[in-house]
Amino acid sequence: MKRACVIGWPIAHSRSPMIHSYWLRKHGIDGAYTKIAVEPDRIESFLARLAEDGYAGCNVTVPHKQAAYRVAQARDRSADLVKAANTLWLERGLLCAANTDGTGFMMHLAATTPDWNRSGRPVVILGAGGAARAITGSFLDARVSEVRICNRTRDRADTLAADMSEGGEHISIYDWPDRGRACDDAAVIVNTTTLGMKGEGIIDVDLSRCADDAVVADIVYVPLETEFLRRARHRGLRTVDGLGMLLHQAAPGFEKWFGVRPEVTLELRALLARDIEGR
Ligand code: ATR
Repeated sequence: MKRACVIGWPIAHSRSPMIHSYWLRKHGIDGAYTKIAVEPDRIESFLARLAEDGYAGCNVTVPHKQAAYRVAQARDRSADLVKAANTLWLERGLLCAANTDGTGFMMHLAATTPDWNRSGRPVVILGAGGAARAITGSFLDARVSEVRICNRTRDRADTLAADMSEGGEHISIYDWPDRGRACDDAAVIVNTTTLGMKGEGIIDVDLSRCADDAVVADIVYVPLETEFLRRARHRGLRTVDGLGMLLHQAAPGFEKWFGVRPEVTLELRALLARDIEGR
């Protein structure tokens, strides 16, 4: 039986087992995907024993993504870009690392709003953490005209831009108080901050002047429709939620461990949506 897991500290909240167990059932694979709480001081020893313990690989969540990147013996470009890994697998005895957040976001955006880049206008990223890095990299790969980064702490936005080895000339930085102005003529606006999560504050961005065909995305998925997305919807804008990104970022890991490229189906989405909404 093939085995994989998700590791984090804490890990009880993780919905990854629900996603991978669905795909294992769907494809009739004799496999298991579990969640394991790994304390911060045990991460290196846990990863060193991954193969010995019978795992084909694992997903990695907070706070271990940077350690996973460091410990890996081979890293793909997606992981190098963010200097953090969320997906690990064993290949010819080597522990390999990727970061699938950027492609996960992009696959969901393309599936939901295929024409998102038709206008060629700028995209706006609110935030400059790990997720912002991954998503910025994917937008640069998609050859957008301009990526505007807007973060409460300006230094982090500057560092993010400086770290982009390719396409950095397409990045501009906006100060946090100027976020409304940055959004005025944007094609896509993405919240990558933690604002909007249950218990956090609300991201306050004036969407009243932005273009009618703008797409507004959030990577927060609890609640399923954040206040930011609700306001965008009321303004008549198209919205892209964080659940789709969560589902799409999971697919590459499943393929590495279990040998089948799984599909993000409406049925899977509904399963997760029910769980998030506590139905
Ligand atoms: P991740 O790696 O998951 O993207 P992170 O690195 O903790 O998460 O980044 C969180 C993001 O949310 C950052 O951009 C952070 O802004 P700072 O760099 O200024 O800390 C942003 N953020 C968190 N709380 C915020 C708040 N109250 N107002 C504005 N931005 C906030």
